[in-house]
Amino acid sequence: MPNVYDELPYPGLPFSQTHPDRLATTATLLGMTPAAVDGCRVLELGCGEAGNLIPMAFTLPRSCFTGIDLSGTAIARGHDLVNELRLPNIRLEQLDLRDFDSRFGQFDYIIAHGVYSWVPPDAREQVLDICKTHLAQNGVTYISYNTYPGGHLRDAIRSMMQFHVAGVAGAAGAVEKSTRVRELLEFLVEASPAQDAYHAALQSELQSFLGRNPAHFFHDELNEFNYRFYFYEFVKDAGRHGLQYVSEAHPFSSLSATLPPAVTEKMRAFSPDDNIVREQYADFVTLRKFRQSLLCHDAVQFERRLDPSRVSQMLIVSEVQPAAAQPVIPVPSAEEFRYPKGGSISTNHPLGKAALLHLGRIWPAPIAFSDLLHTARDLAECRNAPLADDSAWLCDMLLKLYAARLAELHLHVPACPTSPSAKPLVSPLVRAQLRTSHSVTNLRHVAVSIDDEGSRFLLTLLDGTRDRTDLLAEMRRPFDGITAEQLETNLERLAKMSLLVA
Ligand SMILES: C[S@@+](CC[C@H](N)C(=O)[O-])C[C@H]1O[C@@H](n2cnc3c(N)ncnc32)[C@H](O)[C@@H]1O
Repeated sequence: MPNVYDELPYPGLPFSQTHPDRLATTATLLGMTPAAVDGCRVLELGCGEAGNLIPMAFTLPRSCFTGIDLSGTAIARGHDLVNELRLPNIRLEQLDLRDFDSRFGQFDYIIAHGVYSWVPPDAREQVLDICKTHLAQNGVTYISYNTYPGGHLRDAIRSMMQFHVAGVAGAAGAVEKSTRVRELLEFLVEASPAQDAYHAALQSELQSFLGRNPAHFFHDELNEFNYRFYFYEFVKDAGRHGLQYVSEAHPFSSLSATLPPAVTEKMRAFSPDDNIVREQYADFVTLRKFRQSLLCHDAVQFERRLDPSRVSQMLIVSEVQPAAAQPVIPVPSAEEFRYPKGGSISTNHPLGKAALLHLGRIWPAPIAFSDLLHTARDLAECRNAPLADDSAWLCDMLLKLYAARLAELHLHVPACPTSPSAKPLVSPLVRAQLRTSHSVTNLRHVAVSIDDEGSRFLLTLLDGTRDRTDLLAEMRRPFDGITAEQLETNLERLAKMSLLVA
């Protein structure tokens, strides 16, 4: 039976927060021992066309990936890309998750992104049942879902949208419903009366809906099923299945990291011993609408606090750049480092300055903690200081940067060259994706939009056989007048976007 996802396809995207590297990194910071990222078994429930799973399989050839989805057309699109890339380590199957059974075996990581809130209650129960039954002993599962109290306003808009499209029949009317809902949202934005606080909040929600991809918006907001839960309800349901809450996928999107200390203290007073209750209060304070929660088996022991010393096992990536052209490193004078996407950090600690300077220089390449430590000690000219003290200090600083989203921590990242080689080579995945879309997946599992025609054409030429002279000659055919400098700038930009493998 074709379903609504067959009639109006849901464009697949990569979600870095679901990547086994992210799940393993968070679990490791909490003292767990998850499976190695480059040799693990991953299951995705409701994988759609596998826009998330295929790039994972491409960059992790020693790991095995299984995806299931109810939509036959979505799975067929996934098969086309898997065949084109000749990926041997991924299996995609059209299947109702309620028919999932023991032949699929065990998994180290189970992902259900955009599914739990959007299926009927029996299928939702089955998501948790699969996570319990098919998760390896030290496994980690990721489930995203809509939450209250932030979701109440969305419920109100959903009721208005359902009223507006009530006469349009079932799945067959998906495209028409999508158009009519947009018409209603535009009407509501324009017709809204003078701004009191309630209408201001409503306007902001309506505007965010209008800014979304229409197909994503239709399925996310107008789906027949769209359940929202309080966090404590989700945790209780997981508990009935023998699963316990670990953290959010990014551990610092949990309560204490984002709220002022006075608020955190008050919540601690409400519930000194129960972190779940405190998380629930945090959702009240932040009016949270969506969660991306990690679960594990209830018998697994782990720390509730992130352990900075675990950073010493990790790879670090950061795009920070010094504000000054010539930052002074070995003396304790303050230097500012800025993150291009917003945010900055100032430090006068030579080791900290040296580490930040080096990370920015090599970006987007990752560096192992011990290499960063030694390079930073050299740059800071503090080779005689006790190594253990410097190591602990740097772990602590990097965890704070991670909390502020100024640095990434990883257990596994594919090698990303910092600059293009003599004969640049783009990832075959990117070349294949470009044939049908302007959105491609970079080596760090992030969607990148290639909107200008020049870059798209250049990417098709980067198959590792052409040097700068060849590339310039080919580029000049459709883009007469392009200079060698412009070509080089564009190649550098593509390397920084983590689209090149050489
Ligand atoms: C909102 S989409 C999310 C797709 C993808 N996970 C993502 O986030 O881009 C929900 C997906 O769940 C699938 N789905 C819904 N009910 C299902 C079921 N009972 N069994 C398997 N897949 C189901 C749909 O076909 C659709 O692809």
